[in-house]
Amino acid sequence: MLINLEGIDGCGKSTQSQFLMEKFESDNEKTILLKEPTNGKYGQMLWNMLSGKIEATTEEILELFVLDRKEHVNEKIKPALDEGKIVLMDRYYYSTMAYQAAAGIDVSRIRKDNEFAPKPDIVLIFDLPADLAMKRVRSHSVADVFEKEEHLEKVRKAYLNLEDDSLVRIIDATRTPEEIFDEVWKLVSEVRNG
Ligand code: TYD
Repeated sequence: MLINLEGIDGCGKSTQSQFLMEKFESDNEKTILLKEPTNGKYGQMLWNMLSGKIEATTEEILELFVLDRKEHVNEKIKPALDEGKIVLMDRYYYSTMAYQAAAGIDVSRIRKDNEFAPKPDIVLIFDLPADLAMKRVRSHSVADVFEKEEHLEKVRKAYLNLEDDSLVRIIDATRTPEEIFDEVWKLVSEVRNG
């Protein structure tokens, strides 16, 4: 089973992936938690670009996310699925369909570029307004707050545009972590019990 957790920075998906990991492990399910971008060679280039240390175009960034993901699929994701593990993805190609779509790339093209990647069984999108998400993330310089909020709100809209995708579940992430997890577990159980 492949579960993808998504949302803008500060949405709480990392907490929810921890909760899922613990819950599956207490059920004696072999579970692995994977994150993108990876810390492999392409992932490291991406981190440098996303932090602004290296300049890059949107196209170059998209290409690197795809290369990073190809490596991740071959080295970690496919082997784990073949071993029958539950794979939790903290970001996957749905991040590309939100962030790089918000940066101007056509979403159907992004979907096509990612067809090599195993499809998730469920995509959980943790939705909340950008200003709330930003309050949850520590330390920003005052100067970039407005720009960042505008950007995240654009990414949020791109996520919400994926609502018609049959794998996607939009979750209200303004609630407490426990309330959110109740819904997460209900949604995951529905898919798991088929
Ligand atoms: P994130 O999970 O937010 O890292 P952390 O919480 O550890 O700082 O991911 C880093 C950034 O990468 C995030 O802003 C979203 C971006 N990203 C994309 O733009 N496209 C992608 O395909 C992926 C996987 C991530």
